[in-house]
Amino acid sequence: ASGDAASGEKVFRKCKACHAVGEDAKNKVGPALNGIIGAAAGANADFKYSDALMEKAAGGLVWTEEEMTAFLTKPKEYLPKTKMSFAGLRKEDDVADVIAYLATFN
Ligand code: HEM
Repeated sequence: ASGDAASGEKVFRKCKACHAVGEDAKNKVGPALNGIIGAAAGANADFKYSDALMEKAAGGLVWTEEEMTAFLTKPKEYLPKTKMSFAGLRKEDDVADVIAYLATFN
C-alpha cells in the first residue's frame, strides 16, 4: 500500500484501451475494474474470461496487492494463455501506483 494513486491514474492510460474503471465503467475488451483489489478473480458475471483465468479463479485466486503485482509485471508468465494481450509494466513503481489508483475505486 505504498503506491501513489495520482501517478497511477497516468499509468492506467496503458490499461484504458481495454479496461474502464469508475462510475459508469463498462466491460470493454477487458472487464471493468471497479472493486478489483481484494476481489475474487473472474467474478464479473457479464465478462467472458479465458479458461486460464477461470481455472485460477476456481483455485481461489483473489486479487491481493501481491497477486496483482505478479500479474501486472508479467501477465503471460503469471497466467499462461490469458487473453489479456499486454506485455506488462516494467517499473515497480508503476505497478504499485496503478494498484493504489485502482484501490480508490473499492
Ligand atoms: C484481465 C488489469 C491492461 C485486457 C484483467 C484483470 C485485471 C486486469 C486485474 C483480471 C480481472 C478479473 O479477474 O476480473 C489490468 C491493468 C492493466 C491491464 C491494471 C494495465 C496496467 C490490459 C490491456 C488489455 C487488457 C492493455 C488489452 C490489450 C484484459 C483481458 C482480460 C484482462 C482481455 C481477461 C483475461 C482473461 O480472461 O484471461 N486485467 N489490465 N488488459 N485484461 Fe487487463
